[in-house]
Amino acid sequence: MLDVFRTAAAEHLSKSLGIPVETAFSGVDLAKTKADFTVAVPRFRLKAKPAELVAKVVDNFEPNEYIERVSSDGVFVHFYSRTTTLTRHVLGQINELSKPTEKCPHGLYGTNVTGAGKKIVIEFSSPNIAKPFHAGHLRSTIIGTFLGNLFEACGWDVTRFNYLGDWGKQFGLLAVGFERYGSEEKLQENAIMHLFNVYVAVNKDSKAEEERGGPEVTNEKASAVFRAMEDGDEKTLALWSRFRELSIKAYELVYARLNVHFDVYSGESQVETAQIHATLAKLKEKNLLSTKTKEESRPDWDNKRGAGAKSAEATDVDSVTGEVAEIKVEDATVPDAGLALAVDLNKWKLGKPVVQKADGTTIYVVRDIAGAIQRYEKYAFDKMIYVVGDQQDLHVKQFFKILELMKEPFVDRLDHVNFGRVNGMSTRRGEVKFLDEILDMAKESMMTQMKSNEEKFNLIEDPEETSDQIGMTCVKIQDMQSKRIISYNFDPARMTSWDGDTGAYLQYAHVRLCSIVRKVAHQVVLRTDPAQIDTDLLIEPKAREIVYLLATYPDVVRTAIKTYEPSTIVTFCFKLSHLISSAWETLIVLNQEQEVAQARLYLYTCARDVLASAMRLLSLTPLDRM
Ligand code: ARG
Repeated sequence: MLDVFRTAAAEHLSKSLGIPVETAFSGVDLAKTKADFTVAVPRFRLKAKPAELVAKVVDNFEPNEYIERVSSDGVFVHFYSRTTTLTRHVLGQINELSKPTEKCPHGLYGTNVTGAGKKIVIEFSSPNIAKPFHAGHLRSTIIGTFLGNLFEACGWDVTRFNYLGDWGKQFGLLAVGFERYGSEEKLQENAIMHLFNVYVAVNKDSKAEEERGGPEVTNEKASAVFRAMEDGDEKTLALWSRFRELSIKAYELVYARLNVHFDVYSGESQVETAQIHATLAKLKEKNLLSTKTKEESRPDWDNKRGAGAKSAEATDVDSVTGEVAEIKVEDATVPDAGLALAVDLNKWKLGKPVVQKADGTTIYVVRDIAGAIQRYEKYAFDKMIYVVGDQQDLHVKQFFKILELMKEPFVDRLDHVNFGRVNGMSTRRGEVKFLDEILDMAKESMMTQMKSNEEKFNLIEDPEETSDQIGMTCVKIQDMQSKRIISYNFDPARMTSWDGDTGAYLQYAHVRLCSIVRKVAHQVVLRTDPAQIDTDLLIEPKAREIVYLLATYPDVVRTAIKTYEPSTIVTFCFKLSHLISSAWETLIVLNQEQEVAQARLYLYTCARDVLASAMRLLSLTPLDRM
């Protein structure tokens, strides 16, 4: 709706400066101060002096239904919308568009159709089977889910894609481990936990052999098993496939709890061998391959162990094994000559990633290259996003660059949405169980706080579900409230506090907006036809502030999709919540004259609906009691 007022401002600019309306429109920005719109006159690049131009705009101004007045400040002109028109139109639109439709059960306000007809693949979460689901995976899950909702809200056809770490030498190791330590019963009971324990045990064996400097039986066996897997050995693959399926089943439960779903469970294993061969052939054909040293070409040469290998600035320390969680970044510093194949990206300061080991087995980076090509063939996406932590910045840059050197047509459709790491979130027992533990902890804390008000507590229909939802809101808000790239300290006490900008506070703000409707029901029942509500009665400055903020929501959504920043939406939610909480004392509904009460209640219900929309975009479930 703000665009209508923007247009009115643009029309006046167009007339007084003699420029096309479209040009003028693009110069009308949302104001940062008390005005509604601001125009920096020099941006039109006209011949006359800015001061003269400003004078022209201001002197020729005549108020109309949309714009009430203008003012100037140096080279800026400020426009002020007519409050009565603004309030009526904005609330009318929110009311109209917040009604559920078949396709959009939560209404359309804030959505747009800029992505209509376009396809996006969003890859996120992507945990590694038999390894801990660490904070990086949790962040990817939270941010990726938000991006899925955001793109959908902008009309895109979204495919949510989970690229599991379900292939590689560690599966050879896991198979060897399962033979030694596995239990069919435990596997059925808790696949994720059991596989992790097996992996830890067999890893210990392998490490011990390595330290002894003797024969590395375990390691060699593991390499052989993985080679068999890559060659399509049925027996090994059958075992692997069961590991994979049972793990996915377990992941699905946690995802469901988090309001997260995927359209595709893919993974490194799903990158076709033929596609990998074709990729290597293409690299060769384009003269992009060179070789690595003998040492690094050893069949069991492992990226994180190879001479000079820097396993990134890895910090995901696993407190079970005391080990640094493997970060899949290829070593980029090793010298030339040898047997493994690599692509030299030193020209771009991206090192020299290995694309094929000497024993012919595939490697993480090449699966990503071939995988991207395969996905493009399958989905013909207009955009594909990888939501992966900044520890893999180098890896992503490498495979994007290689795709570019291969002249793949879709390279500029790829984006890496990265994020900083979470400090102080040490795993107690590792795995998804660990994620469950966090959610349980947040839930418990919410339950205790809810119980402190017995009267309210007794009215909550399903306290278990409610406390779980608030707890999850806390975890997600903590994660999304700052810019993605900023790393943060995991702080359970702060996260679950009811004071300050936390998830609990946000839910409370929504609950309070819901409760006002219940509290005044004996005096005021909101009329369903907005034409019968006199919005001109909303004369308080607070009311106008709220209306204007609500009106900016569609713009906030458009900004968020440009920057891939959930914090844009979170900031909006908190701004709105603070504004509402400061309005309760002046914009009273109870014991007011009926027409005034109607208008104010209308404002609150609109605010409630917009807050709910924004919360849903963040994958939160807005509550009506707590
Ligand atoms: N499974 C990987 C890890 O946990 C993340 C996958 C990132 N995505 C990708 N296309 N490489 O480190």
